[in-house]
Amino acid sequence: KKDIYILAIESSCDETAAAVVKNGREVLSNIISSQIALHTLYGGVVPEIASRKHIEAIDGVIMQALQEAGVTLEEIDAIGVTYGPGLVGALLVGLAEAKAIAFAANKPLIGVHHIEGHICANYIENKDFEPPYMALVVSGGHSHLVYASDYGKYEILGRTRDDAAGEAYDKVARVIGMGYPGGPKIDAAAKKGNPTAIKFPRVFLEENSYDFSFSGLKSAVLNYVNKQKMMGAEINPYDIAASFQQSVVEVLVGKTIKAAKDRGVNKIALAGGVASNSALRDEMKGACEKEGFQLSIPSPILCTDNAAMIGCAAYYEYLAGVRDGLDLNANPSLKL
Ligand code: KG4
Ligand code: ZN
Repeated sequence: KKDIYILAIESSCDETAAAVVKNGREVLSNIISSQIALHTLYGGVVPEIASRKHIEAIDGVIMQALQEAGVTLEEIDAIGVTYGPGLVGALLVGLAEAKAIAFAANKPLIGVHHIEGHICANYIENKDFEPPYMALVVSGGHSHLVYASDYGKYEILGRTRDDAAGEAYDKVARVIGMGYPGGPKIDAAAKKGNPTAIKFPRVFLEENSYDFSFSGLKSAVLNYVNKQKMMGAEINPYDIAASFQQSVVEVLVGKTIKAAKDRGVNKIALAGGVASNSALRDEMKGACEKEGFQLSIPSPILCTDNAAMIGCAAYYEYLAGVRDGLDLNANPSLKL
């Protein structure tokens, strides 16, 4: 059986990334050029700056990915690229590059949904992990509960009605003066705080809903901080971080376990930047052990944006016969 090599490109937000993936699950290279330090100056991702930085970085990142993998462009079987959702200007840089390479080297082009990429990150280290399973995708832009019935077959059971989980982390971090990106900072601060110090709301919504809502929690933190300030009382950022995180994690874990039970699946996968959160990983592990569920969580570097996950997703699309034309366009609000 012939080996399949995918060159994958990801540029949907603030990481310029390229990877070479062999047979879907073997990562030969995974290059990530992060712009985070630059966007930190502005407290968040500035779309126009992101696009420009992608243009500067992308050629070098792709070259390095091929070089580290020890694979030539001729040996590549297909080009996989994120074409949505994401920042449209940022997406266009990776997509235009992928199309140019596909055209020049006469290789098939395969557009990949960014969320599918995040989910597929679970196949990389966990070689036996297979559908069906319940995936919790939590990132800066998305909070989705996805039932994966087969490779490439997804059903979105729930989504956020307002802020994404990562967005809530980033906004709360700003409120307590921790800067961007807030997720890792709150994660670290929470380790020094008491998760039961402040009672923030757990928003489960309607009895049978798998949807999420985090904006109320964010407001609750803001109101708490303002009230403390008004009363001239002490503000303990560690306790706030720990208590906020506890609230987020309880809801995420509770809904995921319920969805798995309701659908009769005994496998759970975590994905997206927030899946690198230590409390979420621990609590989900505990809950899965209790239920006798199998749990897959990618290493943190495969949770946040990267191209290896896109290469993995593109491989299964490749096997399914998916080929895109050079007229493929970026779609900032692409549906799964
Ligand atoms: O998946 P990702 O890299 O980009 C998107 O597709 O959005 O996710 C980035 C998000 C940010 O909101 C960041 O604060 C959050 O993931 N994040 C974390 C942690 N590491 C990254 N949130 C909580 N705990 C972490 N350790
Ligand atoms: Zn992402």
